[in-house]
Amino acid sequence: MFTVGLNIEKAALSSPMQHHPLQRQKVRAMMNLWMGKSTAIGPRIAVSAGRKTGTLMTHMRSSKAESELAFWHNRLKQQGALTNDHYERVYTTHFGLEKAFYRGKKILDIGCGPRGSLEWAVEADVRVGIDPLAEAYRQLGTSRHAMQYVAGGAEGLPFPDSSFDVVCSLNSLDHVDNLDKTIIEICRVLAPRGYFLLLTEIHRHPTVLEPIAFSWDIVARFQPELAIIEQGQVEYTVFSPEGFGDIYQSLRQGTPYDHSNVRERNGILSAKFRKGG
Ligand SMILES: C[S@@+](CC[C@H](N)C(=O)[O-])C[C@H]1O[C@@H](n2cnc3c(N)ncnc32)[C@H](O)[C@@H]1O
Repeated sequence: MFTVGLNIEKAALSSPMQHHPLQRQKVRAMMNLWMGKSTAIGPRIAVSAGRKTGTLMTHMRSSKAESELAFWHNRLKQQGALTNDHYERVYTTHFGLEKAFYRGKKILDIGCGPRGSLEWAVEADVRVGIDPLAEAYRQLGTSRHAMQYVAGGAEGLPFPDSSFDVVCSLNSLDHVDNLDKTIIEICRVLAPRGYFLLLTEIHRHPTVLEPIAFSWDIVARFQPELAIIEQGQVEYTVFSPEGFGDIYQSLRQGTPYDHSNVRERNGILSAKFRKGG
């Protein structure tokens, strides 16, 4: 497994998509996760590693779900539990909404992950998390959560028009497969006067887990259906030991993104939108 990991790293780092130092760091981090974790992923990648880089990248894309699962299993192993205390602050203080605001509301979290992102919203009428890996996340303890999980992707939300008062995408917009369809679906399921809360990484280079890259002007893509109420642009200041940027800790530190610094690096965008009508 160790040798396989090294081969993968060498091949992946030689990809033109991975030239940037931060991307190289991310690939290394991913390789470390693979090396320490999944026997299911190892052999598939090993087959690819000896071939040309394009083939390797195709195989890496096809293993996006396995990589995501490997990431969360590793997090669970490292941290002992997948905690969810940090979400309440994001949904309330960070986005300038009182906890009481959510009373009786219908909330949808797109790309919710396995942590129980809406467990704090005990007074909401409906709290649904949708994620393509919702079934697989049951292995990580989601069946103990009070919120509902639905298996599915952002590109085809299985909900009627205008069915949610609040729709959120926290660290998941760059993880989807089709951004255009995702934006259409977000606008469709949000009720008139409802809020869309966006927290996303801004990066230039697609990766296995984050196949979509966009810039700060992504906010304009939601107009005219959604109006921007407020937005923030923040630097990554906190990193995990494997080199992953910690979006929630960095958001909490709140160092404004310095656009006068031209060094290429990832950033964090948060935006609050409201639907007209
Ligand atoms: C970085 S995790 C974020 C999880 C959670 N929102 C959080 O911030 O803790 C990204 C999530 O997006 C999900 N995802 C991947 N492709 C998706 C898609 N097409 N539609 C919706 N979610 C997707 C992944 O399965 C993963 O759970």
